[in-house]
Amino acid sequence: MRTFAKSTKLNNVCYDIRGPVMDEANRMIAQGESIIKLNIGNPAPFDFNAPDYIIDEMSAHLRDAQGYSDSHGIARAREAIKAYHATKGVVAQSIDNIYTGNGVSELITMSMQALLDNGDEVLVPAPDYPLWTASVTLSGGNAVHYICDEASDWYPDIEDMRSKITDKTKAVVVINPNNPTGAVYPMEILQQIVDLAREHELIIFADEIYDRLCMDGIKHTSIASLAQDLFCITFNGLSKSHKIAGFRSGWMVISGDLNRAKGYMEGINMLSSMRLCSNVQSQYVIEYALRDFDKPDEMLLPGGRIYEQRELICKLIDGIDGLTAVRPRAAFYIFPRLDKEKFGMKDDEQFVLDFLKEKKILLTHGGGFHWEQPDHFRIVYLPNCDQLTYAMEQMKDFLNTYHQ
Ligand SMILES: Cc1ncc(COP(=O)(O)O)c(C=O)c1O
Repeated sequence: MRTFAKSTKLNNVCYDIRGPVMDEANRMIAQGESIIKLNIGNPAPFDFNAPDYIIDEMSAHLRDAQGYSDSHGIARAREAIKAYHATKGVVAQSIDNIYTGNGVSELITMSMQALLDNGDEVLVPAPDYPLWTASVTLSGGNAVHYICDEASDWYPDIEDMRSKITDKTKAVVVINPNNPTGAVYPMEILQQIVDLAREHELIIFADEIYDRLCMDGIKHTSIASLAQDLFCITFNGLSKSHKIAGFRSGWMVISGDLNRAKGYMEGINMLSSMRLCSNVQSQYVIEYALRDFDKPDEMLLPGGRIYEQRELICKLIDGIDGLTAVRPRAAFYIFPRLDKEKFGMKDDEQFVLDFLKEKKILLTHGGGFHWEQPDHFRIVYLPNCDQLTYAMEQMKDFLNTYHQ
């Protein structure tokens, strides 16, 4: 019988919207059970609201946004994006090298589709934000995972990265600040990645959607600013920084040496035109959103919600025997480790499923981020302090007797 799948193998691609944990969560919800969701980085359900001016500007521009825009996006949005990234040393030659997207997600998929031939390899971090592995794979490429090292604050292991480069490697993906670890990479690490990319003529894909969510006074460095001579694509958007994930507002900035990428740019232009344009009303808010970028968001400062929730989750994890975690420095994720011996860990997905069934709390297992060892999971610490405290009390109780 004829089947209708791409020949691409998706079996080893994890995506947390699929699989037995989500099936069970959906079954529980359908039966009317209420579950606490610590599995998705969507600020709105946790009473994080978009700033009023964003809603006001979007409403004010609804009438202007009725038609399709230029497929790259409206000029004033791209001018604002160009200026924002220029302040971070990422120089787009013109606004023609900037594309708005229905979230960063759409642009990640487009950038892989336009680039990859079957069998091409892309270096993707482990743990990763799984959309990257999925996009590489669906485009016919192979995602080759380089290790980010927990013992070194989850920074990329440069020697591991180097050892995985072959003559099929076309690009390296750098997610900084990182989801799921919350790490922010220092300049020296970024410089080493740039050196490798230069040596092996790799494209750099920089996913920097959390760059405006750094804590502890950390100043974020854009990797493309260190690689003016290389072809780089930097991704960013407003889903997280302005808490408008549902409005789907993202962009990508192409910088560096464009000479060798004419064919690739043609492919990107074709895909961009094929989807006509991104949400036009969401493009209108970009210039307003990027006006206040240098003002630290109060939620990230002591006393602010994200900061205090980060402090709390670290403290609560510290208080659980057999659980440890590197302190996240940005975003709102933490990636704790379970003591493999103590809990007899063999299957992290089973752990998350068991916890969901018993405590009605939904997490994502480490394997969902292409982390190979069965001993990690991710907590989204967006829920308020009471909810986090309750969830971690349940975790403590659960782990008291848990053994696989
Ligand atoms: C690292 C990373 N990149 C990209 C995205 C996608 O964001 P968007 O809402 O712009 O599609 C996310 C969303 O969680 C993310 O964590």
